[in-house]
Amino acid sequence: MNKSYPEIISFIQSIYKTNEFIPLHAPSFNGNEKSYILETIDSTFVSSVGKFVDKFEEIIKEYTGAKFAIATVNGTAALHMSLILAGVRKDDFVITQALSFIATCNAISYLHADPVFVDIDKDTLGMSPESLEEFLKENTYQENGVCFHKISKRRISACVPMHTFGHPVKIEQIAKICLQYNIILVEDAAESIGSFLNGVHTGNFGKLAAFSFNGNKTITCGGGGVIITNDEKLGKLGKHLTTQAKVPHKWDFVHDHIGYNYRLPNLNAAMACAQLEQIETFIADKREIASLYKDFFEGSQYKFVEEPIGTRSNYWLNAILTKNVEVRNETLEILNSSNVMARPCWSLMHRLEMFKNCYRDSLTNSIWVEERLINIPSSYRIKS
Ligand SMILES: Cc1ncc(COP(=O)(O)O)c(C=O)c1O
Repeated sequence: MNKSYPEIISFIQSIYKTNEFIPLHAPSFNGNEKSYILETIDSTFVSSVGKFVDKFEEIIKEYTGAKFAIATVNGTAALHMSLILAGVRKDDFVITQALSFIATCNAISYLHADPVFVDIDKDTLGMSPESLEEFLKENTYQENGVCFHKISKRRISACVPMHTFGHPVKIEQIAKICLQYNIILVEDAAESIGSFLNGVHTGNFGKLAAFSFNGNKTITCGGGGVIITNDEKLGKLGKHLTTQAKVPHKWDFVHDHIGYNYRLPNLNAAMACAQLEQIETFIADKREIASLYKDFFEGSQYKFVEEPIGTRSNYWLNAILTKNVEVRNETLEILNSSNVMARPCWSLMHRLEMFKNCYRDSLTNSIWVEERLINIPSSYRIKS
């Protein structure tokens, strides 16, 4: 049965038990956040050294199953550093998806490399392995184990798929293709803490992965990020480069690389640790909300976006697909003017001035999704 706008609005209000403004995603602080933060203040260790930074990395390793975790100031820095570690350099191409948050392309651009956009799948909203393979088959050649773009002769050094709204992309197929073409796989896992594919946490399929703990994410520490990898050399180098590349010494200042001040402060790490202690409670709540939405929209004119088969998604942001762009815009207009926050997905990257001349395929599914998708309130019901 089709759903009227008043029905949709009152359903969302019933989930959150309020007629007041309902945000898209608000954090929830119900654990040890305050006490851990106070502990950093009392100890005076509020900056890049402190027990919570180390503890945060240990929790991330244990939770994701990765061998190495490097805490960073935000997800963008984690992505930038992951691409440095992957060996991306000036004039390289990095294959990614046009449907992503700007930070993915920004990180590529910081290295004076350019993104190449391939299409997504409608079921995962992430990079399509078929589109990736087709692009590589038609447009590249390999020489001495390096992949080059036929027309420009530029090196294709990395591929960055993204786990959109927390739903795991078809990363196993993508990993196989990258291996075949000698391209390093870096997962933009910014949105997918708590998401698993066949029991393996996202971020463990590529050489490196970047997560975000921004204020709007499943787990937040104000601002923060983490890189995970199972490669010991990259894990150690990543830690070194994110901490100004300082050679350990009792009192002397020696730096052996151009380093970065990318280390997460202890103050933020304290909050991250407290949040991570609650992750399964958070995700249980999110998955319950997703299931309520799924039942509500079943058989209606809206299609609720479900987790891909074989995955356990964190359902970071719930999404529905409308019939066309006119319905999308009308729905956005009515929800937002009724105190229910709703948003379209990001403008596709190739539409932005900076990336309009980048190589891309037809992006048919990306455009189809862009015209139809709406993110709907996904905050926790657990109140702070
Ligand atoms: C897909 C994606 N990549 C990267 C980022 C960057 O993370 P941050 O905001 O922590 O820098 C975000 C989130 O903001 C994101 O959604």
